[in-house]
Amino acid sequence: MNNTAFQALRALSDGAFHSGEDIARTLGITRSAVWYGVRDIAGAGFEIESVRGRGYRLKRPVSLLDPERIFLALGAAAARVKLEIRDTLDSTNTQLMRQAVNGAPSGLAVAAESQTAGRGRRGRAWHSRVGSTLVFSLLWRFTRGARELAGLSLATGVALARVLRAAGASGVCLKWPNDVIVDGRKLAGILIEIQGDMLGPSAAVIGIGINVRPDARVSGAVDQPITDLETVSGLAVDRNQLLGMLLNEMVLVLDRFSETGFASLREEWQVFHAQQERGVTLLLPDGTAIKGIARGVADDGALLLETAEGITRYHSGEISLREDGTAT
Ligand code: BTN
Repeated sequence: MNNTAFQALRALSDGAFHSGEDIARTLGITRSAVWYGVRDIAGAGFEIESVRGRGYRLKRPVSLLDPERIFLALGAAAARVKLEIRDTLDSTNTQLMRQAVNGAPSGLAVAAESQTAGRGRRGRAWHSRVGSTLVFSLLWRFTRGARELAGLSLATGVALARVLRAAGASGVCLKWPNDVIVDGRKLAGILIEIQGDMLGPSAAVIGIGINVRPDARVSGAVDQPITDLETVSGLAVDRNQLLGMLLNEMVLVLDRFSETGFASLREEWQVFHAQQERGVTLLLPDGTAIKGIARGVADDGALLLETAEGITRYHSGEISLREDGTAT
């Protein structure tokens, strides 16, 4: 969607009828530009009703990112976070990594309505859609060295799980290292990228993507079962409120992480752990599959897997639940 389409979408976001003439006047564009904008909005998958004499209406209102409403929801973190909002970016992580190299300050956050090259973990794509997903990244600087940030992605998972639970998502779980799932379906993901020295200082770009509304275009594009916050909470979600709450919680957790590392969040992580004390298979990056019982995580975020040889720590790999789901 181009700039005009985004402007027209903002004008229509409340779900009420707006005449083409009113939209054109408000935006300072021609009526035919409005028509093209509305056509692009429809092409992006929004259902639009068009009634002669009344104008256009979105069949489902959409909550678009609004700095004032996010600021109101930010609470104490308002003084610690500076937020930039974009209609479209390649990826909020990529953008913030570029800005970090150029000296952007800790606490700079970038949120986008859509990403053209959203990235997930392990080189996967991350699919998002205007109004249906929430995608943003936060830059945080640490005096600790990069080698001490191993548990940061799990710490971020705790912040995310807390907020999603508070937003009404019952049954929110974490799958090592940091997938947020409900009933085995992915609700949100975290991608952390680190810059800096192994011994310090260092900086992390913490990228978060959350499925907010059911969207066949998103679920059809990914190769794993997903769910979304509206489905699991049964509530209409205001993405501005959600983003404010998330940034607030992230600041709390990042302050804690800066002081004590992941250790002080480890027990809470394990309460959210979907596979705690269950039989799992860990697929290592070299393709080796290891079966064992998930015994939680270490202070540095490593997975503790018990096999016949005892408990081993793993720093990378993908977990799947064993079919027998053995619990001991
Ligand atoms: C995962 O694979 O689970 C991680 C997904 C992370 C996606 C978010 S969306 C905002 C930020 N920008 C990106 O390109 N990726 C992260």
